[in-house]
Amino acid sequence: MQKRITIIGTGYVGLVTGVCLASRGHYVQCVDVLPERVEAIMDHRAPFYEPRLAELLAAERASGRLTATTKLDEAVVGSEITFIAVGTPEGPSGVELSAVCAAARQAGAAIGRAPGYHLVAMKSTVLPGTTETVVRDLLEASSGKRVGEFGLCMNPEFLREGSAIEDFLTPDRIVIGQWDERSGQTLAEVYQPFDCPKIFTTLANAEMTKYASNALLATLISFSNEIAMLCEATPHTDVGSVLQSVKLDRRLSPVVGGHLITPGILSFLWAGCGFGGSCLPKDVNALRAFARQRNLSPHLLDAVIKINAARPAALVRLVETAVGSLRGARIAVLGLAFKAGTDDLRDSSALSAIRLLSEHGALVTAYDSVVKAFPRGLEFDDLARICATPEETLRGADAVVVTMDSPEFSAWDWRRLCALMRQPIVVDGRNSLSKAAHQAGMHYITIGRMQEAEKPVSAIGLRSLA
Ligand code: NAD
Ligand code: UGA
Repeated sequence: MQKRITIIGTGYVGLVTGVCLASRGHYVQCVDVLPERVEAIMDHRAPFYEPRLAELLAAERASGRLTATTKLDEAVVGSEITFIAVGTPEGPSGVELSAVCAAARQAGAAIGRAPGYHLVAMKSTVLPGTTETVVRDLLEASSGKRVGEFGLCMNPEFLREGSAIEDFLTPDRIVIGQWDERSGQTLAEVYQPFDCPKIFTTLANAEMTKYASNALLATLISFSNEIAMLCEATPHTDVGSVLQSVKLDRRLSPVVGGHLITPGILSFLWAGCGFGGSCLPKDVNALRAFARQRNLSPHLLDAVIKINAARPAALVRLVETAVGSLRGARIAVLGLAFKAGTDDLRDSSALSAIRLLSEHGALVTAYDSVVKAFPRGLEFDDLARICATPEETLRGADAVVVTMDSPEFSAWDWRRLCALMRQPIVVDGRNSLSKAAHQAGMHYITIGRMQEAEKPVSAIGLRSLA
C-alpha cells in the first residue's frame, strides 16, 4: 500500500530511507534545515557520497515519488507518516537531543493541524525511554493531541555506511517499537514490500536493541585488539592466525549441508587500528552514560572504549619503531574516512593517527579515493596534505601506514610503488595488505605480531615455527 511519507533529516539515514522507500512505491518528502541539501536533492544530486545513492536518487526524483523541502510543516501536514532521522551526537548526558526535540516540536505542531491519523516514527538513535517520554511529551504538547490520537513508533536503523542502500533494501530484520498496535501496524504497512522478520516490541526495547547491537560490534573489535596487544608481547603468536582458528569453532562457524557458514558478525573479530565512525564510539559512550545515570558501573563498555582509544597511538608506535624517529620522517597514510566506501570522517582512526604523527614531527601525505580535503580547522593542516594519486602519496616516503581496509590498495602495483619510496616499509593498521606487500618484497609490519627487533634471540631463531 503506497503511503505519503515525510522524512525529517537528510543525512545518511534519512536520505537513504527516503530514496529506498520511494523505490518501493511510496511518495516521500525529505525535509532538512540545510537549504543546500534540499537544493541538491531537488537537483537530482546526492549531497554526500554513498555507493548507489546518486543513481537511485536520480531515478526516484525522475519517478516523481521523491521530493525535498525545508518546509517541515507543509510536508508533515501533507503526509500520513513522519520519520525523525536527525543527528543525535554525543552530549553531556549521553545524547544531545536538540535536533530531535526541534523536529518533534515542529512535527507535533503540524500534526495538530493535520486531518486524520498521523504516525511519527523515530529513526534517530536515542537512549531507552526517550521516545516514550521526551518525544511523546513534545508531540503531545505541540499538537494538542494525546498519543493514540496520533501514532508513535521507534524504528531503529541498522544500515552501515558504504553499503547503506543494500542494507536498507535487504534488511536482516525490521524492529518496530510501538506505542500501541495501531502504530505498529501502520508502520508495518510501510515495510510491507520488505521480506524479513519484523519484530513488534516496546518503544524502549527497540531503543535498547540499537545500542546493544552497536555495543556488541564494538566489543568484538576491542576484544580482538586486546588479543592483538597480547600477541604483540608473545613470541610465535599472530593475532590473525589466532582469530582465524577461533572463528572456525563450529559454534561460531557452523557447517550446514556440508558447507562452512561464516556469519557476517565474525568480520568484527579482526584486529586493527580501532573502530570509528559516527555511531559506534558515540553509541557506546551514550550507553555508558545511561548506565552511570542509573548508578551502574558499565565495566565492559568502559574497557571497550579505553582499548579503542589506545589503538591509533599503538599504530603510531609501530611506525616509530620501524622508521627510528618520526621527526622529519615522511609518512604516507592510506585511508582517511573511518572506513572504506564513505566520505565520513567522524571519529576516524586515520585522522587520530595523522594527528599523532604530526605531533611527533612527521610530514604526512595521505590518500583516500573518496575524501579529497581535510575538514576545516584541523590543526595539522600544514604538516599533512592529501594527494591525488598513489604515486604522489608514496614518492619519497619513509613508510606507508594503512588505516583503511580497502580492496583498492591491494590491487595497486606495489613493486612499482615501492621503487618510489625512500624505504619500502608498510605498517598495516588493518592487517589487509599482507599478500600484496609480500609479493612486492616490502618490509611488512602488522598489528598483533611481535616485531623482529623485540623478539628474544631464541624466538627469532625459531622464526619458521611462528
Ligand atoms: P547526519 O548528521 O548525517 O544527518 C542529520 C541531518 O539532519 C542533517 O542533514 C541535518 O541538517 C538534519 N537536521 C538536523 N536538525 C533538523 C531539523 N530540526 N529539521 C530538519 N533537518 C534537521 O546523521 P545520520 O548519520 O544520518 O544519523 C541520523 C541518526 O541515525 C542518528 O541518530 C544516528 O545515530 C542514527 N544512525 C546513523 C547511521 C549511520 O550510518 N550514519 C546508522 C544507523 C543509525
Ligand atoms: C555500524 C554498524 O555496523 C551498523 O549496523 C549501524 O547501523 C551503524 O554503525 C550505526 O549505528 O551508525 P558503520 O559505522 O557504518 O556501521 O560501519 P562498520 O562497518 O560497522 O564499521 C565501524 C567501525 O569499525 C569502522 O571504523 C571499521 O573500520 C571498524 N571495524 C570494523 C574494525 O575496526 N574492525 C572490524 O573487524 C570491523
